[in-house]
Amino acid sequence: MEQHGRGRAGRRERAAGQPGSPLAALFLVALLQAGAAWAADPSAHTTSAPAAAHAAADLDAAWRQRFARPQGPPPAPADNPMTPEKVALGRRLFADARLSGDGRRSCASCHDPQRSFTDGRARARSVSGPPLRRNTPDLWNLAWARTFFWDGRAPSIEAQAAMPIAEPGEMGGDWPTILRRLEADAGLRGEFRAAFPAEPAPTRAAVLAALASYVRSLVSPRTRFDAWVEGDRSALTSRELSGFRIFTGKGGCVLCHVGWRFTDDRFHDIGLPGSDAGRGAVAGGTPGLAAFKTPGLREAAHTAPYMHDGSLPTLAAVVRHYAGGLRARPSLAVHVDPKLRLDARERADLVAFLRTLSSDKGPARTRQAGPRR
Ligand code: HEC
Ligand code: HEC
Repeated sequence: MEQHGRGRAGRRERAAGQPGSPLAALFLVALLQAGAAWAADPSAHTTSAPAAAHAAADLDAAWRQRFARPQGPPPAPADNPMTPEKVALGRRLFADARLSGDGRRSCASCHDPQRSFTDGRARARSVSGPPLRRNTPDLWNLAWARTFFWDGRAPSIEAQAAMPIAEPGEMGGDWPTILRRLEADAGLRGEFRAAFPAEPAPTRAAVLAALASYVRSLVSPRTRFDAWVEGDRSALTSRELSGFRIFTGKGGCVLCHVGWRFTDDRFHDIGLPGSDAGRGAVAGGTPGLAAFKTPGLREAAHTAPYMHDGSLPTLAAVVRHYAGGLRARPSLAVHVDPKLRLDARERADLVAFLRTLSSDKGPARTRQAGPRR
């Protein structure tokens, strides 16, 4: 399920990893009909043949299905079902600096809810000041993710949450001290008992289970793109729609950024400079292959700078990277094309489309799904 080797022949045909997969077929149709789809776009000022308009409408309907949001609350593992009490406790612990060694840092110090759960820095800042090695990712829609961290080294959110707490550069906490501090807080003890009735006192497992429940409750808000997916044809402008057609056609973005979260949950080398070994250094990865997890693109307008190293400051810079800026090398993912070129208007349209995946009002409010009290 990893990164794919490099294959010159049939680059596009091997779309989405599976030759003949429904996505690959849809993508090929998108490429073939790209001309027809653009002809149906009134902004293109070309003669709009009814047949072309029908073809474009069919294609849009197929994509709408691909990008539809799931129904129901976020999924949770059987051994840590989501309850309103656990989510509420997790939200409180997420902002609680008593989980850090010096009592000055919480998860929210880096994953700031006001910044869409990022820190606005290229790379996270360590306790002692200098930057850590990677960019702080947002925390949207992780209930549906399969692995965690840029290199996927954590198999669950529960396992993930333990790592920054113990990591000396991140929070530098130690569990006996943390649990002693939490237990001394009568109000918090009550919240623990409500969330974990079988536990007489706060435990490490309970802290991690509550944090994970809270993270799972973070579902990105509906945007204009969702309205379009649900059939509101006027929800997107013609420039945004043309950006969508580049995303799903010529640009090839959908080969990795697919589904309503806009990720395939896989690892790829997209030709960024830098020496981070990424997935290649993790058990389960291919040694020597500097691949990183495809990030979802929801709320991305609010999570700059971008990439595992925070090296690209804007969405426009990201698009320039894909259109002529990537480093060709043997490990480069087959789905990115070093020869891709987009003119200024195409790049602007693509960025305009990407922005439709983010809420207009910005990330100021912490949004939440799942059970509530
Ligand atoms: C010092 C800043 C910092 C603190 C504090 C911090 N994180 Fe993070 N977080 C990061 C960085 C940087 C990464 C990416 C690291 C990597 O991929 O190697 C990350 C990754 C994650 C991920 C994985 C996201 C994904 O898309 O795979 C989750 C979940 C997460 N953090 C939750 C938490 C929780 C819960 C806490 C508190 C217990 C916390 N973080 C504390 C900086 C921080
Ligand atoms: C081969 C799979 C693949 C393709 C094709 C692809 N991406 Fe990506 N994308 C990734 C991966 C992997 C990353 C993270 C790379 C890293 O940090 O090293 C990423 C990162 C991004 C980010 C940054 C997100 C963040 O939160 O940091 C944006 C935005 C983005 N891609 C948009 C696009 C667009 C637009 C296209 C089409 C022009 C595209 N991608 C094509 C796999 C892909």
